[in-house]
Amino acid sequence: MNDLSLSELLAAHPPRDGALLPLLHAVQEALGHVPPAAVPLIAEHLSLSRAEVHGVISYYHFFRSSAPGKQVLQVCRAEACQARGAEALLAHAEARLGCASHHTRADGAVTLEPVYCLGLCASAPALQINERLHARMTPAKLDALLAKEGL
Ligand code: FES
Repeated sequence: MNDLSLSELLAAHPPRDGALLPLLHAVQEALGHVPPAAVPLIAEHLSLSRAEVHGVISYYHFFRSSAPGKQVLQVCRAEACQARGAEALLAHAEARLGCASHHTRADGAVTLEPVYCLGLCASAPALQINERLHARMTPAKLDALLAKEGL
C-alpha cells in the first residue's frame, strides 16, 4: 500500500475512456481495498453511474470492498490449478487458518481469497501470500509457508 489519498488518486487519473480500471487498481493499491464510500466519488469523477462502478468492482474478483487482514493468502481456483488440486488446497487453507474463503479471520490476521489465475498455470497449483507467488503447492508446503509467515 502507499499513502496517496483518494483525492490525490482521482487527480492522478483524469476522466477519459478506460480510466476506471486503472483508477480502481490505484485505489486498492493505496488503501488495500475500494471503500464503498469511494464509489460515488469515483463515479462522479469519471461521469459514470454508481452502478457502473459497482458493477466493475463486483465483476473482478481482484477488487475488495472491505479492508483485508494483516496478511492476504490468495489461492488460485482457475482451471489449471483446479486440475491439480486447488480445491483441496483451498479447503486445507480454510481448515488450517480457521477462516472461510472470501473472509478475514476474526483476529484480523489473515484474509483468504480465492483468485482466478496467477499466471503460474504451468506450475499449478499456485497461490500468493503477501504478494509473493508460490507454485506447485501442496498442503504440506502450505503449512510450512504459513508457519514461516507466523500464521
Ligand atoms: S490457473 Fe492457476 S495460475 Fe493459472
